[in-house]
Amino acid sequence: MATKEFDSYSERKAFDDRKTGVKGLVDAHITEIPRIFRLPQGVLSDKKPSVSASDFAIPIIDFEGLHVSREGIVEKIKDAASNWGFFQVINHGVPLNVLEEIQEGVRRFHEEDPEVKKTYFTRDAAKRFVYNSNFDLYSSSSCVNWRDSFACYMAPDPPNPEELPVACRDAMIEYSKHMMRLGDLIFELLSEALGLRSDKLKSMDCMKGLLLICHYYPPCPQPDLTIGTNNHSDNSFLTILLQDQIGGLQIHHQDCWVDVSPIPGALVINMGDFLQLITNDKFRSVEHRVLANRAATPRISVASFFSTSMLPNSTVYGPIKEILSEENPQKYRVIDLKEYTEGYFKKGLDGTSYLSHYKI
Ligand code: OGA
Ligand code: NI
Repeated sequence: MATKEFDSYSERKAFDDRKTGVKGLVDAHITEIPRIFRLPQGVLSDKKPSVSASDFAIPIIDFEGLHVSREGIVEKIKDAASNWGFFQVINHGVPLNVLEEIQEGVRRFHEEDPEVKKTYFTRDAAKRFVYNSNFDLYSSSSCVNWRDSFACYMAPDPPNPEELPVACRDAMIEYSKHMMRLGDLIFELLSEALGLRSDKLKSMDCMKGLLLICHYYPPCPQPDLTIGTNNHSDNSFLTILLQDQIGGLQIHHQDCWVDVSPIPGALVINMGDFLQLITNDKFRSVEHRVLANRAATPRISVASFFSTSMLPNSTVYGPIKEILSEENPQKYRVIDLKEYTEGYFKKGLDGTSYLSHYKI
């Protein structure tokens, strides 16, 4: 047992030291995935797959409807946030070219000359722009994921443009502006769905921090043996996800893994752990995962996490007082976002809930 663990550590370390991520393995034309990427047997077949896309489909909400009936949209959001934890939004107001440009920027960075990329490679979370593969590489997660990523805090303190790689600089800045605008609207609608003042969640600083994480899932030669992202729920208030047309994102719903089918121009919205906590389980932070990419081309996704995450933040969060009552007593103790995030990162994506540690 001890030898096995030692091996896994040194193999992870050797992979890390190359600083070229999963993309580097694919560029070297490997035909078998290294051991550290192998999922324990049975993980992928542990749950029934989606019965049929039409029986079980994540709600799609058309924001065009806001002009007709705001209450109607609020009702749909309430249903999606409480029963699914996820929904897709169309006609959200973010221009198509902005969505295309961020995806192009992410591709450009990940497909940049490895020597240029290496200069950004780091495991130091205090760095402004962090590129690496598997933020939880050294945690107890079951296997290394078939994915590379880069991340940057875009709010509350935006980076200087020179701190971002030229490949994705303008796209990240522009995209983040739109994420703040859309986040503003969604937090208002979620507040209304809770029966609270429109600005309630915003006034609690739920959208003070924006962490942009840009993923690149290279094609995998043995996609049935590994995974793109282990199952997890997000450590954020809210996440807005842009995915391309490859697919592979699934959410855990009623003991099935349900596909989040790509819709051109749509954005995927999901509730994070902090929103589940402050709503005292009214809104659900649902487990999701990404299958390894079996397509011929890389899969690209951009996750906008509303959270101050690892940044210093003196505010503590507990269930919102107005929604508590005798029938709905407080289910969680208060959290400090930085402390929560540190614990979540340390644990890694091992398929267990970190939020449950805070249950009363
Ligand atoms: C995440 C996530 C999904 C994806 O970054 O937390 O779930 O499709 N990403 O990349
Ligand atoms: Ni996620």
